[in-house]
Amino acid sequence: MTETSPIATAQILRTLHIVTWGCQMNVYDSARMADVLRPLGYRAVDTPDADMVILNTCHIRERASEKLFSELGRLRAVKDARGGAMTIAVAGCVAQAEGAEILARAPYVDVVVGSQAYHRLPALIAEVEAKRRAVVDTDFPAEQKFDHLPAQQASQGPIAFLAIQEGCDKFCTFCVVPYTRGAEQSRPAAAILAEAKRLVAGGAREIALLGQNVNAWHGDGLDGRTWPLARLLAELADIPGLARLRYTTSHPRDMDAALIAAHHDNPKLMPFLHLPVQSGSDAILQAMNRRHGVDLFRRIVADLRAARPDIALSSDFIVGFPGETDADFAATMHLVRETGFALAYSFKYSPRPGTPAAESPDQVSKSLKNSRLQELQAVLREQQHDFNRAQIGRRFDVLFTGPGRHPGQMAGRSPYLQPVIVNTASLVPGTIHPVTIASANPNSLMATLNQEQIAA
Ligand code: SAH
Ligand code: SF4
Ligand code: F3S
Repeated sequence: MTETSPIATAQILRTLHIVTWGCQMNVYDSARMADVLRPLGYRAVDTPDADMVILNTCHIRERASEKLFSELGRLRAVKDARGGAMTIAVAGCVAQAEGAEILARAPYVDVVVGSQAYHRLPALIAEVEAKRRAVVDTDFPAEQKFDHLPAQQASQGPIAFLAIQEGCDKFCTFCVVPYTRGAEQSRPAAAILAEAKRLVAGGAREIALLGQNVNAWHGDGLDGRTWPLARLLAELADIPGLARLRYTTSHPRDMDAALIAAHHDNPKLMPFLHLPVQSGSDAILQAMNRRHGVDLFRRIVADLRAARPDIALSSDFIVGFPGETDADFAATMHLVRETGFALAYSFKYSPRPGTPAAESPDQVSKSLKNSRLQELQAVLREQQHDFNRAQIGRRFDVLFTGPGRHPGQMAGRSPYLQPVIVNTASLVPGTIHPVTIASANPNSLMATLNQEQIAA
């Protein structure tokens, strides 16, 4: 009898290159697409000179979308140089929004796959290979993609992402996400807990739960009832070996009392929350259809700080939303100064096709958007630097993830997600050690290891 070696039964090896733009959900999705394709013999490589290239796109602002076509132009040359032997797939939110239009502009694309159909990639590729023509799949299938992706996942390392919720029913008037990701869907707790345990077995010490509206999660619980996020976080906290939990991105309207209390009660929940507010003006919040006022945001911040005094906040802001007056913008600056953010992302309003605000006659001029953004970013930068400087002399636990940029260094993350560097080379990635912060740069902290017992 002849022995079958694993090599003999394995698929032909093919190379796969994935380019990811946009939010953490896209980063997660890209990893899951690689998981789907691995059983077909695809192995990830760093170069676009590959058998298959996937561009995982973002549609959130105009500049983000434009990247697709410039990158496609470059890829076409690589595909030509390979004599056409390359499958080009466009995935993500531009694929979802533009569908077959992409083929009209770039006929050398083979697959257009919307954000809900990644589990169908093997079938789509088979169809391209059999029929030698491009395929488009931008359906919102009845089945949830996450529950049809393989359980077998590549390790994400000590810090892992886990999608628990996708889509959005909120329809803020500036935003494409409800159109590109579809209606809100919450994964069942059992599937999430099983995935979390696999991630921990694969080396994760910190898990960030992901969702476009993560705190709107209301999935089937283990007891047959619908659970709120706080309950899921409590269950996740019981997983041995898991040291840290986060969740992102939240909407102020869904910050319920139980979730705020979890910041006091759940010891694994990190004291850092991304809570986008967009504007400090009630009139603009209303025009954005955020469906809450500035007061709700203030109250949530106060309650969070009461629950967890060391909590730090980050947020998103849009300047130059249609109709934004000097007084509206001043209200945003006031809210920023009054709140104090550890980190924040700020954007010029970008009109998106098909969204209500894009049709408004009260568009703000480019120059005003520019000057407001500069003014806002100057204060936000200062706050970030102040926050980092305030850590000097503080002691906290750092989750080390790998070597630092310079030889002899290790890098990790603080409870506030700041990169922390120590001049010690001998730490094992995935271990947590207490440090004292020695100095602060705008974007990172230098620290020394404490002599006391290793924390975990
Ligand atoms: N679900 C999250 C945000 C998702 S999009 C929430 O509800 O807050 C990430 C950020 O991009 C948003 O918070 C917003 O600040 C920004 N953004 C979204 N659409 C935009 C647009 N049309 N122009 C400029 N910024 C936008
Ligand atoms: Fe977009 Fe608003 Fe939904 Fe956030 S809540 S994804 S900003 S529509
Ligand atoms: Fe972009 Fe889609 Fe995420 S539009 S921000 S990739 S949900």
